[in-house]
This record gives sequence, structure tokens and C-alpha cells, in this order.
Amino acid sequence: MSRLIVVSNRVPLPAKNGAASAGGLAVALQSALAARGGLWLGWSGKICSDEPVGPLTTLKDGNIEYALTDLTDLDVEEYYQGFANRVLWPICHYRLDLAEYGRREMTGYFRVNQFFASRLLPLIQKDDVIWIHDYHLIPLAEELRRQGVKNRIGFFLHIPWPAPDVFLAMPVHDELLKSLTAYDVIGFQTRQDRENFAACLARQNIGERLGEEEFSAAGRTFIARPYPIGIETDEFAKLARQAGNTTLHKRMRQSLDGKDLIIGVDRLDYSKGITQRIDAFETFLTRHPDYQRKVTLLQITPKSRSEVPEYEAMQKTVAEQAGRVNGALGTVDWVPIRYVNRSLRRAALAGLYRMAKVALVTPLRDGMNLVAKEFVAAQDEDDPGVLLLSRFAGAAHELKEAMLVNPYDVEGTADVIARSLAMPREERQARWEGMMATVRENNVFTWCDTFLGDLAGNEAPEGVEQPR
Ligand code: G6P
Repeated sequence: MSRLIVVSNRVPLPAKNGAASAGGLAVALQSALAARGGLWLGWSGKICSDEPVGPLTTLKDGNIEYALTDLTDLDVEEYYQGFANRVLWPICHYRLDLAEYGRREMTGYFRVNQFFASRLLPLIQKDDVIWIHDYHLIPLAEELRRQGVKNRIGFFLHIPWPAPDVFLAMPVHDELLKSLTAYDVIGFQTRQDRENFAACLARQNIGERLGEEEFSAAGRTFIARPYPIGIETDEFAKLARQAGNTTLHKRMRQSLDGKDLIIGVDRLDYSKGITQRIDAFETFLTRHPDYQRKVTLLQITPKSRSEVPEYEAMQKTVAEQAGRVNGALGTVDWVPIRYVNRSLRRAALAGLYRMAKVALVTPLRDGMNLVAKEFVAAQDEDDPGVLLLSRFAGAAHELKEAMLVNPYDVEGTADVIARSLAMPREERQARWEGMMATVRENNVFTWCDTFLGDLAGNEAPEGVEQPR
């Protein structure tokens, strides 16, 4: 089997203490690479003020080698905080109002992609397959091709691809679309994302669609397919089962004192619909006063991208909102919303998901949302909780048995919270069984094997041993 090279902006190094970030990309890829082995290149997370940037930092963990590069402060400002997180992220999440396009940031984005190509080039061997991840690195394959790289190169977009009218509002749309045609395989989370991409190509007269998945452009052919990302389902279910006896869970149970737990877990990001969710929870409590003092919403929200102004502003907005609801509805011995700004270990999260009656996964737009899948995997089959899921999360395309909501409809969501809390056990079980079958089938190993099978130009490898 050829060696695999993974490239992504953020490289989650093996956690020494089991702490895991809330980002889906991290969790999914670590499992995938550990099963197969290879090299992972990305940003070290360090910013240096001097140029040129020093040599790569390398380290090895089991059968994964890591190669990490620093970036200059200008690089980080223009490429990461600027074009990636103030143009591509809002546009792909349908927030044209938040997109701050500037030529300087755009130039920085392409420059840093060239820089990543220059760091990767000396490491590439003849038969390597290269798998590039996410919106930070769209033009990387084009840069590599320019330097003569003939290896198979795949790209997976973890976030949504928006409708053409939204994407084409970005001034450099054609450059990005054309650069994608340098890949051999382009993966999306959903069919809808792929169709949006295909519609952009068609609208801009770039290349030709040869079949449902096959395209050609500039003398090359490539495929574009949905590969819905998954989780390590059995492993996560085991973590959840084992979490019940830990001190944290005993403390949590004690502090709930018989109240029902509703849970939300998201990076602090405007795409996650956190303010709409808190509004919905407040509306639910106001309309159903019987539930006051009987339920608690635990909202776990690690801070994220704090250097980007929209994210910094959000920290204040959400904290104030949670404080206002607690002030208005709380009593001396009951706090409606427990708002926590730190990330938890995977095992702790798994146990909390299992303890919760309802999960609120209500992004305004999301590529997939692995919290939804983890919540399902963590449930007790005899008494499962209810997943309340936004129609605008990629996961809603698969988890049809979830309680689907429109997060913009605050009152509608409040009604569904009430229905979910009151749902009879048989209905909860029937819905959960359907979802669990999907989460088991489309797990992170199927995701990885299917993508890499396509990238190798073969059928997905059969009989690949899955770690237990
Ligand atoms: C999302 C993106 C990832 C990103 C993660 C955390 O899941 O798809 O590419 O790594 O958010 O964001 P950050 O900006 O901290 O890397």
C-alpha cells in the first residue's frame, strides 16, 4: 500500500492526557492515520517574527510521522485569520454579511499555500498519495502540480460548499474553482455540497461534467463525490459506557439532583447557532413553566479563533445572554444554563452525552457536525436520549430519525425541546436504533477507506483490520 501524506492547517498532535479539541477534523483524522500509517504535515501553531521560517519540526508517534512548520505573523494574519477565517469560512457558512474581503489577505492566502508546497515537495516520494484537508489549503495541489508533482492528490472539504450565488460573491472565485481541478479526487460532506460545487463550475464554464461524479478540466479528469465523515463509533460508545463511575460523573449526577440534563457542545462560533439555541431554551422554559427547576442546559463552548473580531465579539454576546437568562429565570437553588468555556476530555464528554436526555445540535450551517454522531454513539440502548438536530447540518442528511429543526425558528425549536423531553421510551428507542445503524455503518474507517480507495483509483480495500 502506498505511503499516505496528510496535509492540514491544524495538526492535532497525539494528546498526552487524553484532552481532545472539539474540532471534528482532529478526531477523525487521527483515527484514520493511526490505522494506516504515514506522514502528516501542517502548521505547528507557532508564529515567528523573523524570516525565513526555520526548518520543519519532526516527531514520530507510532506509525504516524509529523512534520510541522512555523508561519510568520504576517502569514497567520493574512492567510489564517484573514482569508481563511474572514472570507472562506463565513462565505461557506452563508454569512456574506461577515465576509471581509481584501486583496492583501487573498495574496497572503495564495502565498502561504505556495509556502506549504515548498515545505512538502522535498518530502514527497514517487508513489505517495497525498490527501489535503479543508478550506485553508484549496490551492495546494495546483502549486504542487506547477512544481511537477504527478502523484495522486485528493482534497476533502470539511465545511459546506455554498450555493453558487453565495460562492460567486467572493471576488477570487474562479481562481479557487480552477485550482480545485488540479486534484484527482475532491470530497464533500454531502451530495448537496457536491452539487453546489458542480453548479459553480457550470455557471463559470469551467471544465465539463462527464457523469454524476466525473469531471474534466484543463486536460485532466477528476471525481467529486460526497464522503460523509464519521466517528470511531464503537470506541466512543465504549468510552460512554465506562464513564458512568468516574468522579466527574458522580459529581455531575449529584449536582443535577434528579433534574433532566440537556446538552450542547460547540466551538464558540457564529455558525453554531448558540444564541438562537439559548433563545429557544428560554422560550421553552417560559412557555412550559412546569419544566422550570426540572431541567438544566449544559452548554460546553470552548473559545475559538479569538483573534478574529467576530469571534471575540461573540464571547461577550453569549456570556451576557446566558447570564441574562439565568438572572431572569434562575432561583436561589437552580441555574437554568451552565455555561462552560473550556474543552473537556473525550471520555468526560462521552459520559455527559450518555447522561443527557436531549442534545441540542442546532448549527445555522455545518459541514457535518460530529457532536451529533457522538451523542448517538454514546447512548444507552435501553433508555436513549433524543437528538435535536438542525436541518442545516450535514449530519441531517444521514440522521433522518433525529428531531429535525430549523434553528432560525426559535419558537419551533422551543416546541421540539418540549416534545423531545416528553418523548416515550419506545419512540426514543426506535429513532436511536435507526441513527445508530447509520453511525455504525458510516464510521470514520469507512470514510477514510472509501476516500483513499477512490484516490488510489481502486475499489475500497477490503478486509482492512479496524482497531478495537
Ligand atoms: C473546523 C474546521 C477545521 C478546524 C476546526 C478548528 O472543524 O473544519 O479545519 O481545524 O474547525 O478551528 P481552528 O481555526 O481552531 O483550526
